[in-house]
Amino acid sequence: MAGTFLPQEVIRAKRDGATLAGADIRALIGGLADGSVTREQAAAFAMAVFFRGMDMAERVALTKAMRDSGAVLAWDLPGPVVDKHSTGGVGDNVSLMLAPALAACGAFVPMISGRGLGHTGGTLDKLDSVPGYATQPDAETFRRVVREAGCAIIGQTADLAPADRTLYAIRDVTGTVESLDLITASILSKKLAAGLDALVLDVKCGSGAFMARREDADALAGSLVGVANGAGCRASALLTDMSEPLASAAGNALEVANACAFLSGHEIDPRLWDVTVALGGEALALAGLAPDAATGRARIADALQSGRAAERFDAMCRALGGPGDLVENFTAHLPTAPVVQDVATDAEGVVAQIDTRALGVAVIGLGGGRARAEDRIDPRVGFDRLAGLGVSVGPGAPLGRVHAADAASAARAAEALRGAYRIGDAAPDIPEPVLGRVGPPPPGANGGG
Ligand code: URA
Repeated sequence: MAGTFLPQEVIRAKRDGATLAGADIRALIGGLADGSVTREQAAAFAMAVFFRGMDMAERVALTKAMRDSGAVLAWDLPGPVVDKHSTGGVGDNVSLMLAPALAACGAFVPMISGRGLGHTGGTLDKLDSVPGYATQPDAETFRRVVREAGCAIIGQTADLAPADRTLYAIRDVTGTVESLDLITASILSKKLAAGLDALVLDVKCGSGAFMARREDADALAGSLVGVANGAGCRASALLTDMSEPLASAAGNALEVANACAFLSGHEIDPRLWDVTVALGGEALALAGLAPDAATGRARIADALQSGRAAERFDAMCRALGGPGDLVENFTAHLPTAPVVQDVATDAEGVVAQIDTRALGVAVIGLGGGRARAEDRIDPRVGFDRLAGLGVSVGPGAPLGRVHAADAASAARAAEALRGAYRIGDAAPDIPEPVLGRVGPPPPGANGGG
């Protein structure tokens, strides 16, 4: 659409199924950022995209326009700038181990994380449970910590991708959240504004994921990888299983405690290990820090087992105002709930199925997530020692342990947990933790797919 830019003409064109020119998409998003495009027009545009969809070139243009609506970080570091994004799950504390493990392997990780969304937990809420840790440092501190510790996990800043913040709020109240095109641009605009060289995506699939069905997860992974690569950031995605919580804990301080026990080697959930190492191997290969993903996985495993990742984690915590000995002494630092009880079950058998989403909702019910945006989170509450699929339970072998602010909420959460578990006679088919990969062959790899 050459000549004068009129938002309503671009909206009409998309409404009628046209493919938009990059210049029109840029003008529309630029107008949203500077206020010359109204919220009504943005809502109509979102609905037109929802129904008509976008092709890959349009998605790339939309993502870049949203990325460029604010500051785009530029780094001058002696190694590649790398990050991971997860589409969200329950007991998904991978970032807490992966960021320092990548840093220990020579990457620099400016990880800008979000708060809990829906039934899923957010990395930022988890880190808010660490006393003194500043999740919103100033830009100078953020840069210094990335340079010195190799990683910094912080919250979204106001100047990164502001058009996404506006459009996301509009989508939230106009029934246009569930658009593959808009989700892709929203996720990637924020990540790409952090100035990444490489990005590994963890697309969750199963009862605790936003994309419960494999075909939807595949489509999202394909879209994210295609657009990130199209926008100049090397990217690939792993599809990972979310038919049970990934860690054996769900809740904010409890997932930090689980991460500390993992980093120190005291207690490592095997599926969490597999996913963390797989994502790390992929990221190192994408970033050129390993010749292939298998070598990358071995390097990540070594960083974790040698304690080098734990050192980076403690260095990051200390530099952001938290304790410098969290990994070894987390019990001395993290807040604990006054009521801690086993969740017993009368049913005897093996765990056949877990409604992981319901388990995430039970954490919110305990106060560990938000029912409304303005709610305060109780960092102490949640579940730990959760029995995974195929584990034997019954009298004397509880489903897990609840941590609650009081006896009444503990009883409600215990009931919810019992409702989320189906106990059977036979061991179920347990999905592999890593279900598949989407992306170009990593640099240096032979084949792949
Ligand atoms: N997360 C985002 O940041 N944006 C979306 O649209 C969905 C999930």
